[in-house]
Amino acid sequence: MTTLNEILHERLAGGIIPAAEVMQLALYHPREGYYRQNQDRWGFEGRDYYTALDCGPLLGQTLALRLEDNWKQLGSPSSYTILEPGAGRGWLGRDILTHVSPDFLKILIYLHRDDSPAAQNEAIKVLEPWISSGHAIITNNLESIQPFTGAIFSNELFDALAAQPWRWDGNQWLREVLSSNGSEWQVSDSAMAGEWFQSQAIDLEVGDGSIWAEELPHLVGSLAEKMTRGLMIAIDYGESADRLLAKGSDLRRYHQHQVDGKWWEDIGQCDLTADVDFTRLQACWEHEGFHCLTHQSLSYWIRRHALLETWESAWSKLPNEEKMKRINNVLQLTLPGLLGERFRVLEGQRD
Ligand SMILES: C[S@@+](CC[C@H](N)C(=O)[O-])C[C@H]1O[C@@H](n2cnc3c(N)ncnc32)[C@H](O)[C@@H]1O
Repeated sequence: MTTLNEILHERLAGGIIPAAEVMQLALYHPREGYYRQNQDRWGFEGRDYYTALDCGPLLGQTLALRLEDNWKQLGSPSSYTILEPGAGRGWLGRDILTHVSPDFLKILIYLHRDDSPAAQNEAIKVLEPWISSGHAIITNNLESIQPFTGAIFSNELFDALAAQPWRWDGNQWLREVLSSNGSEWQVSDSAMAGEWFQSQAIDLEVGDGSIWAEELPHLVGSLAEKMTRGLMIAIDYGESADRLLAKGSDLRRYHQHQVDGKWWEDIGQCDLTADVDFTRLQACWEHEGFHCLTHQSLSYWIRRHALLETWESAWSKLPNEEKMKRINNVLQLTLPGLLGERFRVLEGQRD
């Protein structure tokens, strides 16, 4: 059986490999990709990284409220479908389905979409009560989904798309590649990426640069065509295009809660991620006919939509340990410097 390292070795014998191609192989090689092995990746001890869902149900509880509001705004249609691409373990779906009102649940269908075998196995377990009652479905492809009224939302989907780092050297764009010596920057035709960066930078300086996810417009297009009316919500870490350019955004590698920039090491054993360019993500959804698009920090979004005072008084009646978990969850998602400030939420509508 060919291993990922052997594939890369063979490819390198023929020349360099762009970083985005290495990331695609590392995460999505059909057998050995990080998200194609049947291994749990998410969580605290013994895992590689945690997401907002590991901190508690607050994100799902707030989304439940936001989706139910949208359902009412649309005139309470007789069915409302919510599609979650990159749904991982199904925890966000579970937290939403747990917190919606009985009236909303009656007409709600949650579609879990993720090709990771480990994610699907866990989702089948945690969503079992709603799968049995017909309110949750694990979907194996987008094609089988009929266009619906409802919502499309994701948490940390877009940061998992293969992305190519670029740098401005004062005269031209350099692309990060893997050579037999490790990572290198090479002059290359930057095509649409270069045009986009140039259009977003006020003044390009040496060392400025950002990442380019080639698949982004295609993925957004294939999701957007599934929804006739409703709400789109993307939660992810990243920044506006000009800020990413100024900071010289890079690929990151996560392994056992350690983070570094060595994306070319231990291929298939580590998570690789890239900041999301929220200006471009917004432009892609606009191109698909979505409007009222805004992005803001996750902490602002939570404080705006969650009923924190009401919920906090309900939590005060919980046993101490449970109460502390809920309070920690609020702090993680709202305090400066923590997860809620590093993440952004993009919302848009179609009607
Ligand atoms: C960083 S994980 C986030 C998982 C989950 N949303 C969470 O917050 O715990 C990214 C997930 O996106 C999935 N993914 C990547 N590209 C995808 C695509 N085009 N469609 C659906 N899922 C995708 C991966 O398999 C992986 O499980």
